[in-house]
Amino acid sequence: MVGMSDRPLTYITVAKVEEVLPGQSRPIQLGQCSILLINEAGSFYALQGVCPHQDLPLADGKIWKGVLDCPWHHFQYDIRTGENLYPRRVYPLRTLPHLCDQVRSLQTYPVQIVGQEVQVGISECCLECFAK
Ligand code: FES
Repeated sequence: MVGMSDRPLTYITVAKVEEVLPGQSRPIQLGQCSILLINEAGSFYALQGVCPHQDLPLADGKIWKGVLDCPWHHFQYDIRTGENLYPRRVYPLRTLPHLCDQVRSLQTYPVQIVGQEVQVGISECCLECFAK
């Protein structure tokens, strides 16, 4: 079985370094993939750009000490791993059965800096959508 990490990636330039300042984010659409590019203290991260809670965009979410706070209902995610920190780490999911399907981690994408360009690694299937 081929996992996501085993699939070949293609790096796409999505911004120049100076276009997304520390503490800022930028929503990016690559084909059908909504991605949120984040600059935290000079390090770039790319996450799924839609919150699994109610499939609403994460653009304009507050970024604070490695945490992305969804602007809609304040679910919180680790920007490095995409892990849901709130409510998962605060409330045991057995106390919130109605939220089980909505409390998921965000997909993360690898980021590389080439010169002054920020590039995000996407899989072949995203690339096919992007090319259409
Ligand atoms: S849509 Fe993000 S917390 Fe509700």
